[in-house]
Amino acid sequence: MRLDRYLESRLGCSARSVRMLLAERRVRLNGTPATDSRQQVSRFCRIEFDDDVLQAREPVYLMLHKPRGCVSATRDGKHPSVLDLIDLPSKSELHLVGRLDFNTTGLMLLTNDSSWSSAIMSPGSGMPKTYRVETRDGITQEYAERFREGIYFRYEGLRTQPAALEVLAPRLALLTLHEGRYHQVKRMFGSFGNPVLALHRLSIGAVALDESLAPGQYRALLPAEVSCLRDHRNADREPGS
Ligand code: URA
Repeated sequence: MRLDRYLESRLGCSARSVRMLLAERRVRLNGTPATDSRQQVSRFCRIEFDDDVLQAREPVYLMLHKPRGCVSATRDGKHPSVLDLIDLPSKSELHLVGRLDFNTTGLMLLTNDSSWSSAIMSPGSGMPKTYRVETRDGITQEYAERFREGIYFRYEGLRTQPAALEVLAPRLALLTLHEGRYHQVKRMFGSFGNPVLALHRLSIGAVALDESLAPGQYRALLPAEVSCLRDHRNADREPGS
């Protein structure tokens, strides 16, 4: 939003009055007198008018180790929700960046910055997400070929995007997806009639779950983690992936 529009609405004054206030250097943006009435302001800019703070909201970016038996929702009538694990005054402003199934564990992101979460979640971002998958039956190399070609999802009438599979042990593998469809991992293994017994998300883009976080614990993302997810581009994908 433009600064002049913000001030007009927040202070209930005319465009002309706003220009006067700026000329008199009575408005400060992030600590510096603002002079350009057309400059863009976000909900996280600190805006002051004389001695009044008009807005001073801090962006919050968290990584959480989601435990089993917890719903990826801000609230749930029956089960504990991911937000129940957060103990912050601003927690009601947070939203989840994507979801994990009830019994899936691992990396979840939460924020109050919707432009950041949209950049991560947008279908065009191609943001890689890596899962550790444990299955009931053995995983063969054929899985890797079929996942690379894409699995046809009859319900949606589409083929999944190329996904990379690394088999670690007869029934254990790492799977990297560049999209997030409903129960995608379980359905991909389900196409071989092989049920997933345990599913754990290890990373989103270049951000890996901090191994020092026990299930249910969380920490603030580091500035470098925030920016590498924001700046991720589809072009960062491996050729052919
Ligand atoms: N795919 C699934 O099937 N479940 C998850 O929780 C995440 C990805």
